[in-house]
Amino acid sequence: LENGLARTPPMGWMPWERFRCITDCVKFPRDCVSEVLFKRTADLLVSEGYADVGYKFLIIDDCWMEKYRDSITRKLLPSRDRFPSGLKHLSDYIHERGLKFGLYHDVGKFTCMFQGPGAEGYFKVDTQTFAEWGVDYVKLDGCFTENEKMDDGYREFGRALNETGRPMVYSCSWPFYKSQPNYDDIAQHCNLWRFGPDVTDSPWSVLDIMNHYRRHQNTFERYGGPGHWNDPDMLVLGNYRLSYDASRLQLAIWTIMAAPLIMTNDLETVRPEIKELLQNRHIIAISQDPSGTPGKCVLVDENVQVWVRPVTPLNALGQYSYAVAFVNTGDFPSCPLCPQTFQIKLDDLKLENPTGYLVLNLFNASETLGRFKGKDVFTTRINPVGVTFYKFTAAAFY
Ligand code: GLA
Repeated sequence: LENGLARTPPMGWMPWERFRCITDCVKFPRDCVSEVLFKRTADLLVSEGYADVGYKFLIIDDCWMEKYRDSITRKLLPSRDRFPSGLKHLSDYIHERGLKFGLYHDVGKFTCMFQGPGAEGYFKVDTQTFAEWGVDYVKLDGCFTENEKMDDGYREFGRALNETGRPMVYSCSWPFYKSQPNYDDIAQHCNLWRFGPDVTDSPWSVLDIMNHYRRHQNTFERYGGPGHWNDPDMLVLGNYRLSYDASRLQLAIWTIMAAPLIMTNDLETVRPEIKELLQNRHIIAISQDPSGTPGKCVLVDENVQVWVRPVTPLNALGQYSYAVAFVNTGDFPSCPLCPQTFQIKLDDLKLENPTGYLVLNLFNASETLGRFKGKDVFTTRINPVGVTFYKFTAAAFY
């Protein structure tokens, strides 16, 4: 969507995978979806350094509403128990900290958790209310609507957002609900779109979404770019079930896909080494590369996949630099969950800059590996369900 927004993939935080639809604040005061959670997270985004490296959008997901609209104005109402100060107050709190405010809604009759009313029949009222509340980002889900209505719904809700005059990033779940999504239409109307299933806190979910992208990567490569991004769903780093290696894997592959980096975790309990990954400035620079070109898997060799994304800088010969991720999917027949040594000539990855590349280990920036040319063999050792991740910067001179 060419509305001047999301020129690089949005970065931020969303509670869904970690906090779901916990609404009982008596039993679960720390975890319930409430203004306490969002204020705490706003504070932590700033104090723990996440905002500084780019995680700016704080997005409320499902389960924020009262069951019914206001009987007179027909406006949506935030839960009185859990958001007693109202959403304008929360939005101000978020903006005062230099962050941006996102909000979940649904194009159909109800939200996906059936917790509150959807937008159907109320596009104008709801987009206007969002503008009044100072919303900067809308995640529009697609539950409880008919297939034919959905296409018009997503287009029209987008137009209504635009008519408010307030810039709001428009995140759609549209393709996820379609058997044959029309990506020309979707990319024209949305800033980002969910193309696959909901991520869960598991390495297999990460691999599953990665392979889903891979199966459709020629399409996704064509449609991703500044203002319009493929969204493989949230980063689950910092929760319970991703190992350190799988955490690196999700971050690297999401970065190669030019995906939004939206965390879902409890920022108070993210372990230091995972926080360091999430705040790795070299990787974030690749994610936010101004060229905005998504990468893809260029080679599969047994259980190793090589993913490549072109990035700046270009050298004087007009040759791109590249981010390259080597993934060990962990299913090598003779030794399923073992580290693998992998060797490849750069030519075989179509890294053909005649002056070669200067190689940097993105997970350990103190490690520069020197210059490699097309005929040189590059060797890497990859942990199972893990990744190694490098930047190949096109060298300028012979
Ligand atoms: C859908 C979406 C999730 C989340 C839930 C909320 O499943 O894909 O990201 O927003 O709805 O109900």
